[in-house]
Amino acid sequence: MKVTVVGAGAVGATCADNIARKELCNELVLLDIKEGLAEGKAQDMMQTATLLGFDTKITGSTNDYAKTAGSDVVVITSGIPRKPGMTREELIGTNAGIVKTVCENILKHSPNAIIIVISNPMDTMTYLALTSTGLPKNRIIGMGGTLDSSRFKYQLSQHLGCSPADLNAVVVGGHGDTTMIPLIRLATWNSAPVTNFLSAEQQEKIVKDTMVGGATLTALIGTSAWYAPGAAGAALVESIVRDEKKLFTCCVSLNGEYGQKDICLGVPVIIGKNGWEKILDFKLNDTEQAAFNKSADAVRSMNDVLKSL
Ligand code: LAC
Repeated sequence: MKVTVVGAGAVGATCADNIARKELCNELVLLDIKEGLAEGKAQDMMQTATLLGFDTKITGSTNDYAKTAGSDVVVITSGIPRKPGMTREELIGTNAGIVKTVCENILKHSPNAIIIVISNPMDTMTYLALTSTGLPKNRIIGMGGTLDSSRFKYQLSQHLGCSPADLNAVVVGGHGDTTMIPLIRLATWNSAPVTNFLSAEQQEKIVKDTMVGGATLTALIGTSAWYAPGAAGAALVESIVRDEKKLFTCCVSLNGEYGQKDICLGVPVIIGKNGWEKILDFKLNDTEQAAFNKSADAVRSMNDVLKSL
């Protein structure tokens, strides 16, 4: 099994680190456009191998895609991250060109790869990866909802005073501060609805704090977060390479599901060896569906910006 992570910044390097620690593949390539960065980080990670006890072979490459040849899964993290006060959407002009070029280069050497998109604005970058490559839709997966659902469980656990591992909760819709929809009505604590244990004010706060989870961290750290985004990417790689068929919310191409088409948006999917294998219908109520449609409108207008670039 071979995995490539494109972009050796904080998110890409953390994702690679998680992949190596879990030994999800025997060969792992980290690639970056900046001279020496990927080689340096790959070497640094390799020097943890005997300390951590993994034997994944990590190689770094400065923009030499030949080294990525034959990858089964490719994670794209390239692009500029947001700074405090910026939205993910403001990155579109720069990141669209980068993501398109990365996809082309990857597919020259790994025509059968499954592609996981992390670069922002993630919903639009996933749509761009799908439309510019023409790959079968199941092989293009946007990571956003996986991260947002994990952040949602964290927020819930803080209020419930419980282990996040005991929670089931998903965020659907776009990966934007105003477009994501934490489905609190459907969230459970070991099968009991979490709403049984939370006041209306608490529920409102949890949803709000989840939605601005990324922006909150950007303000604190001074740049975009990386531990959870990197771990979310690696969790998807794990479900693919081990064919786990785990349920994650991912940004995938919709063709009538959830009432939307010609768009990539976050919905619950099964992730396995074929990429995203199935969309699950969580039967949104009218309010949730209205929020989902609004989210789709916002993402669609962002996708329209691609035409003018
Ligand atoms: C975040 C970025 C990765 O939400 O979108 O932290």
